[in-house]
Amino acid sequence: MKNIFKWIGIVLASLIAFIIVAGLVMFSIGNSRMNKTYDFPPSDLVLPTDEASLELGRHRAEVLCQGCHGADLGGNLEFFNDPALGTIQSANLTNGDGGIGSTYTTEDFVRAVRHGIDREGKPIFMPAVVSTAFMSDEELAAVIAYIKTAPPVDRTTNGANFTPLAKILYTAGMLPPMPVETVTHDIHVAAPEPGVSVEYGKYLMDTHDCRLCHGPDLNGGPFPDPTIIKISPNLTPGGELAFWSEEDFINTIRTGITPGGHELDSSLMPWQDYGKFHDDELKAIYMYLQSLPELPQYTE
Ligand code: HEC
Ligand code: HEC
Repeated sequence: MKNIFKWIGIVLASLIAFIIVAGLVMFSIGNSRMNKTYDFPPSDLVLPTDEASLELGRHRAEVLCQGCHGADLGGNLEFFNDPALGTIQSANLTNGDGGIGSTYTTEDFVRAVRHGIDREGKPIFMPAVVSTAFMSDEELAAVIAYIKTAPPVDRTTNGANFTPLAKILYTAGMLPPMPVETVTHDIHVAAPEPGVSVEYGKYLMDTHDCRLCHGPDLNGGPFPDPTIIKISPNLTPGGELAFWSEEDFINTIRTGITPGGHELDSSLMPWQDYGKFHDDELKAIYMYLQSLPELPQYTE
């Protein structure tokens, strides 16, 4: 009898030791992936100064950047906050105290928005990089030029701070990968001619986070924040949109209410930001969605 207890004790102790060692190894893999330094050739973007470009930059910022960086672009202290996983605060983009605007060069902005790294070359946890990496040179330059003119906000933000558990789950592939590990890192990016066309609609969707939530094929996908359990709806003609007119689509994005009377939750689907798209931009998006192959709704 005594022997059996002794053996059970040894097996249990080895198991616990194994789990601790595996946890430590996974922690240090995750930790070094998160702190790896990257380098990419410079884009040499030249910032525009004309009114039309600054207006384009303002418009891109109001539809996309402000949703996460705040209406004043001064950063969001509560962007992500989970006791088990850690915190992420989005950066203050302005020239105020605690803002990056006063010290970041154009190339520093490009490194963040197109490649997903900070000025030291380390990965940033800005989920939108998977779309902003596709922004054309012209639009990215316009956005940066506009941000440099935004009124200064004094707010200190503290970036991403993860718990050891988050680093272990990260190594296990249970948290989304960092954008720097997945985006193409093209040095120059072009956009199709603006207009009501399938190509421009695709470009707008590629650059505005739609695939981040509605999935790479737009037939739905898991919510990018791992603490929120929600599958986004199918936007291809395999879903409800097959029955919507162009006007229905524009009304839905502008009012947050679908033709079927369903109210979209603005904390999940940022329709208030997308409602600021111009009519022609929404028409192009609708045209692109109608051109997609009919796919079944994504399920887990
Ligand atoms: C889906 C949310 C989201 C959107 C949309 C978004 N950002 Fe961010 N951004 C973040 C978060 C979160 C961080 C902080 C990441 C970190 O510190 O690891 C960040 C950080 C940054 C940084 C600082 C990187 C650094 O070096 O610390 C810049 C610059 C930036 N964003 C610019 C932009 C611009 C320009 C846009 C619009 C084109 C934009 N962001 C859109 C969430 C977002
Ligand atoms: C942060 C995640 C997120 C992003 C980004 C996002 N969506 Fe959504 N979207 C959702 C979720 C979740 C719903 C369902 C919301 C609900 O039922 O309350 C939804 C619903 C919709 C609907 C209604 C579909 C239906 O069948 O009722 C449309 C249309 C839509 N999104 C279009 C878009 C477009 C276009 C973009 C990009 C410009 C986009 N979404 C970006 C998460 C997102």
